[in-house]
Amino acid sequence: MAKSYLNDVYDGGTNDSRELYASWASTYDNEVQKNGYVTPERVAKALKDIVTNQSEVILDYGCGTGLSGFALQAVGFTNIDGLDVSQEMVSLAEEKSIYKKLTVFDPSTKIPVHADQYKIITAIGVIGAGAAPLEVFDNLFSLLPPSGLFGFSFNDHTLSDPNYEGKVKQCLSSGQAIILHKSYGNHLPKANLKSNIYILKKL
Ligand SMILES: C[S@@+](CC[C@H](N)C(=O)[O-])C[C@H]1O[C@@H](n2cnc3c(N)ncnc32)[C@H](O)[C@@H]1O
Repeated sequence: MAKSYLNDVYDGGTNDSRELYASWASTYDNEVQKNGYVTPERVAKALKDIVTNQSEVILDYGCGTGLSGFALQAVGFTNIDGLDVSQEMVSLAEEKSIYKKLTVFDPSTKIPVHADQYKIITAIGVIGAGAAPLEVFDNLFSLLPPSGLFGFSFNDHTLSDPNYEGKVKQCLSSGQAIILHKSYGNHLPKANLKSNIYILKKL
């Protein structure tokens, strides 16, 4: 029987998680789908309700094996690029032929995207416990142009650290963004995990 990583992942903190995802890549889709992983579909539907031009290029940051890109494509988005720090995860995304461009980068370097390159950025299941650190929120937000959209999720483990929601509140109260969508719902229902999903519009 394949090793389960769902418990390990949330114990791992948010330091470089590449080793964990290198080992998990080949069984990731099966394990999360078995547990009803639904956050990508929730973010994709929320974005679809807001975005009129579905051919707008989306950066799916932390695309992993492509489950988030698949959900975006399934609701009608046609131009999706993927970026991740794990070659093993991205190699599996490549096989799904969803992304127009796929890039792997070293998380100790700058995100290889220039400011205003993408009007829509998603980070689905990426920021927080077991993956990217909170500073990635600011890094991604700073890459968006005014009116750009940022769709992301925080799962229950991440929400148990008030700094994450605090970051969103600070972004809103300082007038940097408005919130177009926020809802709490299933993340990995068979593992009893929920998540908040958010769509922010940069001001
Ligand atoms: C739980 S998976 C989510 C993957 C995909 N978005 C999905 O919904 O299935 C988290 C992903 O974040 C990536 N990741 C971890 N740290 C990262 C960082 N600092 N920057 C970008 N991606 C990172 C991992 O390699 C992994 O592919």
